[in-house]
Amino acid sequence: KFVVDVAKPISKIQPTMWGVFFEDINFGADGGLYAELIKNRSFEFIKPLMGWEVLNGNNEDVLILNRVRENPKNPRFAHISIKQGQKPLGLSNEGFRAMGVKQGVGYSFSLQARVKSGQKGMIRGELVGADGSTIGNASLEIAGTDWKTYKVEFKCSKTDPKAHFIVWFEKEGTYDVDMISLFPQDTWKGRPGGLRRDLVQLLADMKPGFIRFPGGCIVEGRNLANRYQWKNTVGPIDQRQVIMNRWNTEFAHKPTPDYFQSFGLGFYEYFQLAEDIGAEPLPIINCGMACQFNSAETVDTSDLGTYVQDALDLIEFANGELNTKWGRLRGKMGHAAPFHLKMMGIGNENWGPQYLTRLKIFTDAIHEKYPHIKFVNSSGTDPSGDRFDFLNTRLREMHADIIDEHYYRNPSWFLANARRYDNYPRNGSKVFAGEYAAQSDKIASPDNKNNWECALSEAAFMTGLERNAAVVSMASYAPLFAHIDAWQWTPDLIWFDNLKAYGTPNYYVQKLFSINKGTEVVPITLNSDVVAGQDSLYATACVDEHTNELIIKFVNASGVATQNEFDLKGVTRGSGVVTITTLKSDNLNQCNSLEHPDAIAPVNQDFNQNGNNLKLEAAPYSLTVIRIALK
Ligand code: AHR
Repeated sequence: KFVVDVAKPISKIQPTMWGVFFEDINFGADGGLYAELIKNRSFEFIKPLMGWEVLNGNNEDVLILNRVRENPKNPRFAHISIKQGQKPLGLSNEGFRAMGVKQGVGYSFSLQARVKSGQKGMIRGELVGADGSTIGNASLEIAGTDWKTYKVEFKCSKTDPKAHFIVWFEKEGTYDVDMISLFPQDTWKGRPGGLRRDLVQLLADMKPGFIRFPGGCIVEGRNLANRYQWKNTVGPIDQRQVIMNRWNTEFAHKPTPDYFQSFGLGFYEYFQLAEDIGAEPLPIINCGMACQFNSAETVDTSDLGTYVQDALDLIEFANGELNTKWGRLRGKMGHAAPFHLKMMGIGNENWGPQYLTRLKIFTDAIHEKYPHIKFVNSSGTDPSGDRFDFLNTRLREMHADIIDEHYYRNPSWFLANARRYDNYPRNGSKVFAGEYAAQSDKIASPDNKNNWECALSEAAFMTGLERNAAVVSMASYAPLFAHIDAWQWTPDLIWFDNLKAYGTPNYYVQKLFSINKGTEVVPITLNSDVVAGQDSLYATACVDEHTNELIIKFVNASGVATQNEFDLKGVTRGSGVVTITTLKSDNLNQCNSLEHPDAIAPVNQDFNQNGNNLKLEAAPYSLTVIRIALK
C-alpha cells in the first residue's frame, strides 16, 4: 500500500519548476519559430546568393554590391539591370527547405528598394506551388532614388508545403533591393513579422514556468566572433547583423550549410514570447568563453569588460526605466513596461578554473548594481565526471544561486537516477536540470528516436526531480524544436515541417508534469521508503493550494499491469471527483509522427470516489496523473 500524507508538506515547488529550453538548432528559429519564408533576405549569407536563383538573366544582370561604410551591419544588396526589350528577370527564393503556405491566408511581401532618378520600376512577387502554378501574386511600383520600404499583401489560393517565391523585375531600368521578405499573416497573435502560431501554441499549451534562450552552445559560438551578442538582435530588423549559425554544417545527416541567424527572432521577441506564454525569461549570456568542445578561445580577463557590460545592459533593456539608454530602446520597440527579468545564466557548459574566474567577475559586477538578480551557473554535461564534480564543489563554495546540470544519457541511466537528488544538500545552491533527454541511440543519429521507452524513463526520473523540489528549482528537456528536413541533433521535443508540427511522447510527459505542477511536495511512500524503482514503480505527490487538490504522478516502467492502493492520510474528504490522465503504450519503440501525432497522447477519465482509500490499476509502461479534489 502506498501512503500519501497531505498533512506533512515537505517543500515548496517553485513556479519555475518545469520550463522550456529554446535554442536555434535544427532550424528552431530561422526556418521554424520565426515565420519569415524568405531565406537569406538581405544577401548576407556566406555566399550572397545562397537560396536564390536568377531566372532569365546572367551574372552581369545581378550584382551583389557592398556598402559596408554606409551600412556596416547589413552591407550587401542586389543591383539588378534590365535592358530595353529584355524579358522580366526573376530572383527565385527556395525558402527554408521550400515554403509551406496555406489557402486563404494573407501574405505580406515587402522589400527595401530604390531606382534611378525618373525611373518607374515595377516588381511583382509570385508565389509558385510545387506543380509550377501561380498561387499568389502582387505588384509594387517603385520610384525614387532613396531607399524606401515597399509592402503589399495578397491571398494564397492553395495550400502547398513545397512552394517557392519569385521576385520579378518587370520593367527596364536598374533596381537596388534589400530585405526581401514574405510573411504569413496568421502568425502568433497576428503580429506582423511574427512567429509561427502552431509552434508557439505547442509551447503555450505546456504552461512552462520559464523559457531559457537563446541556447545552448549557440550562446558560446564556435569562436568568440560568432558568439551570441544580444545587442545585435534588437532594434530595426535590417540592423540585426546576420551571422553563421553555430549549427551550420555540411556534415550532419541532413546537411545545413545554409544555416544562418537573421535574428528576426531576437532578444525583444524572446522576452515578448516569455510574457505571452506566462513563462519567466531566462536569458543566457556568453561568459567570455567560446564553446570548449570546438575551441579554447577565451577572452583575457582584462578584456572581459565588454562582456560584463553586455550583461548589465541586458538587465537595463529588460527592466530599465524609459529614460535609460536600453530601457528606451525596449519602449521604442513597443514594450514600455518592464519585462521583470529576475534571473540570468552566465556561460553554458563552460569548465575549468578559467570559467570560475570569469564568473566571479560577472557576479560581483552585476550584484553591485542589481543585487536581486539570480544567476544560473553551469556545471556541464558529464553528471558523474571529475570536471563536473570539480565545478559543482567550487560553485557551491561560491554560493552559486542555481547550478545548471545537463545529462544526455540512455533510458537506464534515467531510471537508475530517480534518486539522484535525494541526498543533495537542501541549503545553499539550487539545481536547474537545464538540459536532459533520454537517448535511444547516439546523439544526432537518425536512429536516436523520441520513443516511448525514452519518454517513460524521463517521466520516472522527473518524479525524482519533483520529490526533490527542495533543491531542484527548474528543469527543461533539450533541444526543443527540430525541422524534419534540417536537423543536426536528435532526439528533440517537438518536430515540424513547413506546415505541421507534433509533440513527441516526451513532449506529453513534459506537458503533464508542467500542467499538473502543484505548489507543495507531500510524501508518498511504499514501506516507508520513497517510491523510486521498487518493482519498476516511481511516484511523487504534491498538493495544489490554488485548486485545493492532491496530485499524484505515478510511473509503471514494467511490462505488467500493477494493482495499487493508496492510503490518503490527512485528507478530510467525503467523496469527490478524481481525474485520471494516462499516457501509455505497450510498445516501447512507439513514436509519434506528423502522420500520427497522437499515437501516444494523454487520455483523461473522471470518476467519483469516496473516502481516503484509492485504488488504481497502472497499465504496463504508463505514466498516470491523478488529481483528487480535497474538499
Ligand atoms: O541541446 C543541444 C546542445 O547540447 C546544447 O546546445 C548544448 O548546451 C548541449 O551540449
